[in-house]
Amino acid sequence: MGASLKIDILTIFPGMLEGFLGESMLKRAARSGAVEFRVVNLRDFTNDAHRTTDDRPYGGGPGMVMKPEPIFAAVESLEPAGARVILMTPQGRRFDQAMARDLAGESHLIFVCGHYEGVDERVRQALATDEISIGDYVLTNGAVATAVVVDAVVRLRPGVLGGAGATEEESFSDGCLEYPQYTRPPEFRGMRVPDVLVSGDHEEIRRWRRSQSLQRTRERRPDLLGGGDDGLKKRGDG
Ligand code: ADE
Repeated sequence: MGASLKIDILTIFPGMLEGFLGESMLKRAARSGAVEFRVVNLRDFTNDAHRTTDDRPYGGGPGMVMKPEPIFAAVESLEPAGARVILMTPQGRRFDQAMARDLAGESHLIFVCGHYEGVDERVRQALATDEISIGDYVLTNGAVATAVVVDAVVRLRPGVLGGAGATEEESFSDGCLEYPQYTRPPEFRGMRVPDVLVSGDHEEIRRWRRSQSLQRTRERRPDLLGGGDDGLKKRGDG
C-alpha cells in the first residue's frame, strides 16, 4: 500500500464529522498523508431554494425519506469509479474487524450517511456497493455510525499507529479477545502482576497470554470460537 486512502463522507450534518476527524489519531493520519478526508454537505447538491434533502414517503407513514437526487449527484461528483460506496444503515451487514481490514485495503471509500426514516431505495439499488450496520440498534443519523467505521479502518492503515505490529496482537486480530495487560507498579492495592509476566521467560509469557486469551473468549464471547452460542455471557467482573 503506502498510497493515501481517500475517504469521502456525505452527510447533512458535516459538523458532526469535522469535529471527530479534527482530533487525535485521525487528525494525525490526515496530516501524515496516510488518509485524505473530505466531508461533503449533501445540501450543496440540491437545486431548490430550501436546499431540501428529504421528502414524505410514498404510501404514507411517519417520518421523512432522504431524496435520491442529492445523493446521486454528490457521489457522482467524487469520481467514484473503483470506489466502494457504503450506505450506513441498520439493515446493513454487521460491522466487524474483518470488514475493517477489508476496507483498509481499498484506495477510495465513499460513505453515505442516512438520516430520518431512511434513504430512498434507489440509492441502495443503483449506487451503494456495500451496506453496513454498526450494530442492532437505531441511531438518529449515520454520521455517528460512519465515525465508528472510519476510526476502525484508518487505524489499520500503514503508518497510522506507532509501533509495527500494534494491530497484530489486539482483540479480534486472531479471532479471540486480547489477553490481560499490566503495566507498573508491580503491586497496586494488593493486586499483583502475574509472576510469569515479570519472569523474562518469553516462551512462557507467550503460552500464558494464549491461554488467557482463549479463556476470556470462551467466557465472554463463545460465539467467536464458533461454538454456536451467539449470546454475550453476562460478566461478573465488569
Ligand atoms: N443509521 C442508523 N442506525 C444505524 C446503525 N445501527 N448502523 C449504521 N447506520 C445507522
